[in-house]
Amino acid sequence: MCGIFGSALRDGNAAPVIHAALKRLEYRGYDSVGEATIDDGVLYVRKDRGKIDEVHRIHNLDDLPGSIGIGHTRWATHGAPLQVNAHPHLDCKGQIAVVHNGIIENFAELRQDLETHGHVLRSKTDTEVIAHLIEDGFNNRPSTSFADVVLEAVKKLEGSYSVAAISTKEPDKIVCARNESPLVIGVADGGFYCASDIPALLPLTNKTVTVENGELVVLSSENFEIKKILDSSTVVRKPRLSDWSPEMAVKGGYPHFMLKEIHEQPETLRNTLRLQEHYLDLMATFLERAREVFLVACGTSYHACLAASYMFSKLAFLGTYPVIASECVEQHGRSIGIDSTILAVSQSGETSDTLAAVMTARERAATILGLTNVVDSTLTRVSRVYIVQQSGPEIGVAATKTFTSQLSVLAQLALRVAKRRGKVSQDEMDYLGERLTKLPHDAEVVIQTQEEKVKQIAKKYRDAKAFLFLGRGISTATAYEGRLKLMEIAYVPAIALPAGESKHGPIGLVEPGFPVVIVCPRDETHKTVIGNIMEMKARGASVVAVVEEGDEEIKRLVDDYLEVPKGIAEVLSPILFVIPLQLLAYYMAVERGHDPDMPRNLAKSVTVK
Ligand code: AGP
Repeated sequence: MCGIFGSALRDGNAAPVIHAALKRLEYRGYDSVGEATIDDGVLYVRKDRGKIDEVHRIHNLDDLPGSIGIGHTRWATHGAPLQVNAHPHLDCKGQIAVVHNGIIENFAELRQDLETHGHVLRSKTDTEVIAHLIEDGFNNRPSTSFADVVLEAVKKLEGSYSVAAISTKEPDKIVCARNESPLVIGVADGGFYCASDIPALLPLTNKTVTVENGELVVLSSENFEIKKILDSSTVVRKPRLSDWSPEMAVKGGYPHFMLKEIHEQPETLRNTLRLQEHYLDLMATFLERAREVFLVACGTSYHACLAASYMFSKLAFLGTYPVIASECVEQHGRSIGIDSTILAVSQSGETSDTLAAVMTARERAATILGLTNVVDSTLTRVSRVYIVQQSGPEIGVAATKTFTSQLSVLAQLALRVAKRRGKVSQDEMDYLGERLTKLPHDAEVVIQTQEEKVKQIAKKYRDAKAFLFLGRGISTATAYEGRLKLMEIAYVPAIALPAGESKHGPIGLVEPGFPVVIVCPRDETHKTVIGNIMEMKARGASVVAVVEEGDEEIKRLVDDYLEVPKGIAEVLSPILFVIPLQLLAYYMAVERGHDPDMPRNLAKSVTVK
């Protein structure tokens, strides 16, 4: 998730306007930044790795000449955060500049084709192919308009994009286009703008036009024109007035980043379904060949590892050890060796306990694999193979979208290992593949249908002194994660257990009205979970169950229930069942007057603020 911005002014320099707008988009990505403007037929570019203020101090992002320009603040997905990979990207002759937010899935093929036709690509990014496709269009049909050349170029792209381009061939225009990644036009007296979302526009204008998927927009200082990419037909859309404050806009209208990031999960789950096959296959090969696999992480990432251990076992018949990183050396230090494979999971890629375990294992010649959300993080640099999960920056300290994305990637890995081991039939592969693809939609349904209900339940239990979270099978990981969220942002003491463990002591806590949250997918554990509910009810507990839609058997047994769409595959269930628990923790924190984004005593592994 990056931030793009374009400005076509009647008067004055565009650079300071672009710089200020990128600052308002910095929450979308902050590892490199760049701008390009055109003045007197010449293209000017300034870009480098680092945060906007650092790059501005070195390169001065305000003094590029020209009243038209584009800018970008980056969250690296393809290619480490280095100057060469920073946007804007140029064509061979330095006459076309492009900024992009999204993932071009077929960039490797396009790059190969362009290089075969003599183009020289400088960066490791997917984006750069767009600048060269535009150049190619001009080379092949010099009399074609800039807009039409861009239109032909984006037609060749597969994946998500919001892209803006300028060219010295038509120096008074910005051409931008959208497929999935957000793009908004700003209409103002002094000019026209395009941006990844409204925060960048608000101080300039509150008159905005949303660009829909499959649309291209030609901007100048006088006007904007929308076309359908498919057939170049013109689209007429009137600007609407936004009533957001700039501060509100950065959170996208949500009161907190945590709630915004919970609502982003349909999109971030979709991104995990677009990861580069090559790296998923490579990692699956290492896992399939491994003599022993340790899944090492901390906190929420450890809960993803715990769930993954069920996925690898149930799908691929592969035994794995989920290990809390801070205990890894003590618990397994001596047994880890050249035949060991460590799959380290860390959204930040910088958590010291996880890196310490990894370093020790590396010293003992173990193979290190990494799953992270941050390109160029330390974990990526110490891993033999790593996967970047594409969740975009997570500003809220409480991990939400990165957890469900980790689970989706780990499930895809387990499925690939299962296929290699011939442990799943083609029908099972197809079924699970179809279920995975349906996850973004199902997550949307959970959020839309359950949020109001969660608010009521949070209100009902706001003064609870403690909670017990129970789950069986893979739902044990869901219960653990629900508990962690409630503790870290609402400060409610909570215990989580595999439900079968409760009768071995912790049930002693349960008394009339004691809140028990139980995770109940319709899987092999369903019957035994009903037994656990009865145990709790027999002691007067107040039971909140997360169930599959239409599970009347459990709904009539419990005090409150939250529903997820039916038919979720067992090994994928934590991805949906955790969402109501994320919302419960969020609304409990709000009910109890705490700031969910800035929980006490905690910080995000990567310090952005
Ligand atoms: C989760 O909400 C917490 N922020 C924390 O437990 C976190 O999961 C843990 O510190 C691991 O972070 P990582 O994924 O960046 O390594």
